[in-house]
Amino acid sequence: MLLFLLLLLLPALSPATAWVPVEDWESGNVTASVGESGQCLCHVYLPETAFPADRVQHMQQVSKDLILEVDIQMTKIEGYEGKLEVYLKELAELTVRVAMLESSADNYIKLDFELLRIELREFEVLVSQLKESLNSTSPMFDSLYTEIRNMTLIVDQLETYDKSNLMVIRIEFAKLQKKLEECQLEQEYLKPDIGNCNHTGILSISKPMVIQLNPNLSPGYHYGGWGKDSKPIRGYESMYFYSGYSTPHAYNFYLYADYGKLLLMSHFKHHAVNHGWTGVGNNYIVHGNTIYYQIYSPFSMGKINLTTSTKEYRVIAAASTKFSYSYSENQNLDFAADETGLWVMYASEASKGKIVLAKIDEKSFGIEDEMSTGVYKQLAGNAFMACGVMYVTRSVDMRTEEIFYAYDTKTKQEKHLSIQFPKFQEKYFNLDYNPTDQKLYMYNNGYYVSYNVRFNKE
Ligand SMILES: *[C@@H]1O[C@H](CO)[C@@H](O)[C@H](O)[C@H]1NC(C)=O
Ligand SMILES: *[C@@H]1O[C@H](CO)[C@@H](O)[C@H](O)[C@H]1NC(C)=O
Ligand SMILES: *[C@@H]1O[C@H](CO)[C@@H](O)[C@H](O)[C@H]1NC(C)=O
Ligand SMILES: *[C@@H]1O[C@H](CO)[C@@H](O)[C@H](O)[C@H]1NC(C)=O
Ligand SMILES: *[C@@H]1O[C@H](CO)[C@@H](O)[C@H](O)[C@H]1NC(C)=O
Repeated sequence: MLLFLLLLLLPALSPATAWVPVEDWESGNVTASVGESGQCLCHVYLPETAFPADRVQHMQQVSKDLILEVDIQMTKIEGYEGKLEVYLKELAELTVRVAMLESSADNYIKLDFELLRIELREFEVLVSQLKESLNSTSPMFDSLYTEIRNMTLIVDQLETYDKSNLMVIRIEFAKLQKKLEECQLEQEYLKPDIGNCNHTGILSISKPMVIQLNPNLSPGYHYGGWGKDSKPIRGYESMYFYSGYSTPHAYNFYLYADYGKLLLMSHFKHHAVNHGWTGVGNNYIVHGNTIYYQIYSPFSMGKINLTTSTKEYRVIAAASTKFSYSYSENQNLDFAADETGLWVMYASEASKGKIVLAKIDEKSFGIEDEMSTGVYKQLAGNAFMACGVMYVTRSVDMRTEEIFYAYDTKTKQEKHLSIQFPKFQEKYFNLDYNPTDQKLYMYNNGYYVSYNVRFNKE
């Protein structure tokens, strides 16, 4: 399963290697190198052991399939959390498989032992990537390595196929899984204070984490957006959304149960918006299990309650379709959510094209407050909210973007600043901050990109 996942990532990742240095690395019997077109090749060598012929044959078949293509960019710290989720799921599946071993006939046992061995090796590679990406000397990782080695040893020892040993392996897997969970907890602990706005604003934006091309796998789907629910309801804490198309129109919204499912492009829900509900402009978000987006006609704020699938719209009389951001037409209503609630940004004739920032009352789906800002919408690349402050971006060059303006809704003060950050592609059509993980999500000309935000705690 993991092999499949990594291969899927390839199309998006190869271009990244053009500007992100990729190091060769080696771990046990797994080697990696950079291929001709910049892609990463990962070779997994399986040991020759005294197994019966059918197993050897099976092994050869599997090892043939085992040419992984991984990008080291994947292993950077931003991917840590999501990857861990994937590993945990893999591990859970392994545990289930080991449990099944106990009740299987001997020939199945032989086969499954080999698969187990292979997956343990993959697992080792992944832990090694994790360690590298975190640049961590945490004893947690050393311990994980030991656990994996121990597991491999145990699998080796099971040559006798003594079923009582299967219990041992099951217990070991359970222990390993627990270790990984602890590892994840440690990561949570390292996270910045989620929800805490006791700081003086954004200090810096990290390097971009490019996950992959949109799930339609179409470079033609330039326009779109993706991200996480910024105020998830219980049971949907890990939900991601995506919409994309070859024009700024939005006809479909897809929902993914978690990061792993997003990577596997396996949605659990699909909302088609047509017959008067067609979206436009790509500056949509999901907040409180509800999609907020710009409806094409009548020009209005649209809302899809994902719990009930009910749709509603509200016309903002003052908002004008004349003013869009610089990268695309039709970006007239930009939705945003931060620690302080739900917002929409637009420009009007009255504001002479400058961005008006409005607070949305979630219950009534009406505007409860409006503030005029000093920045022309057409000069902006995009805008987002974080801790009650509106940040506006613009292009510096093809590969660099800059936050150049901030408006604090608490003090009603504006300020000019220059916080630069790299882009993967020149144009992007959706940029939003998510207060649940303090990350920025960008739909960068067809690619999923995210950034970590660092706040100035002084
Ligand atoms: C790699 O495999 C060889 C046998 O194929 C074995 O002797 C060696 O210990 C393995 N190395 C590691 C680090 O697992
Ligand atoms: C990893 O950490 C070491 C020492 O802490 C440091 O010298 C090195 O630059 C770091 N590497 C990266 C890629 O951050
Ligand atoms: C690994 O196995 C050895 C020998 O069986 C044991 O002494 C050690 O405690 C095990 N390590 C872990 C982390 O389980
Ligand atoms: C906010 O941070 C400052 C400086 O870090 C600290 O002195 C202050 O106690 C904090 N206030 C709250 C409410 O946490
Ligand atoms: C969505 O519908 C559910 C069920 O009726 C309701 O509890 C919830 O408040 C609605 N959400 C929004 C944002 O309207």
